[in-house]
Amino acid sequence: MDNTDKYLLNYKGYNFVSAVVNDSDFLENIEDFEIRDDDVFIITYPKSGTIWTQQILSLIYSEGHRNGTENLQTIDIVPFFEYNIRKVDFLKRPSPRLFVSHLTYNLVPKGLMNKKAKYVPQPREKKIIYVYRNPKDVLTSYFHFSNLVVIFEAMNNIEELLEKFLDGKVVGGLWFDHVRGWYEHRHDFNILFMMYEEMKKDLRSSVLKISSFLEKELSEEDVETIVKQATFQNMKSDPRANSDDIINNDLGRRTNEGRFLRKGTVGDWKCHLTVEQNERFDKVFQRKMRDVPLKFIWDLNEG
Ligand code: PPS
Repeated sequence: MDNTDKYLLNYKGYNFVSAVVNDSDFLENIEDFEIRDDDVFIITYPKSGTIWTQQILSLIYSEGHRNGTENLQTIDIVPFFEYNIRKVDFLKRPSPRLFVSHLTYNLVPKGLMNKKAKYVPQPREKKIIYVYRNPKDVLTSYFHFSNLVVIFEAMNNIEELLEKFLDGKVVGGLWFDHVRGWYEHRHDFNILFMMYEEMKKDLRSSVLKISSFLEKELSEEDVETIVKQATFQNMKSDPRANSDDIINNDLGRRTNEGRFLRKGTVGDWKCHLTVEQNERFDKVFQRKMRDVPLKFIWDLNEG
């Protein structure tokens, strides 16, 4: 474990946010953390649609979250696995337990892996929803976030972040390794890949895809409610979903300006990267992702 960096804690080649790892014993024992057959994990690289998917899962699983009778924040319904900021006793949580995590495939509990060598879907099988986003928008979102919260290293400009991002010296480690790792090991897990941009294009279909994967039957009315409450605008004004409280109380603000729910669009990178920076990014992307057939959307005007 290397915590010589003020902001990043490097453990087994992966970068954790140093300030919110409150239990290094937990990290050292993650592999053996006992998984239940009905556990559900959302897994993302940072800034790829994490709190959005937390809100969708909260709405799918909790009627009280849907109809507003329950006043829990999404982080309390779908807690962070490796950043247990509310110090929840995971062992005492009722099933099905919902978690969210930024971990790479090789760091998650071994019990999340399929029992059989070749995956045959089982009823009540633990599940992973992996959400990925085009990395230029991830970079852009990360840039703003790093200048918003004190637990991230502030960046003077996008060039400074670009260097670190392409070198994996950021929270979550190297984006390419994260996505590639999960994709290449997809057969070892019961996993659904979701793309941020597809969720943005068609939220209703995305909610249906997620609920079907989770084997949760929803009425037409429930689906409508979930879609409505998971839109960017609704989440932004919903204190249970907008994470303002987490920024103010747990992560710490650098500035009074700025929100977790910043823009929520596809292609904002075009307003931030220069032509030269974009070309450099493309070169690395093509080299590193050449043999990964995942689809990417860089701009919603694409066909
Ligand atoms: S974190 O810190 O890793 O948990 O961040 P994460 O939640 O993964 O990513 C934050 C970005 O997701 C956007 N977001 C949304 N976009 C569209 N629709 C909805 N409902 C939504 N909810 C969150 C959020 O605005 C951040 O992206 P940017 O580009 O910065 O706006």
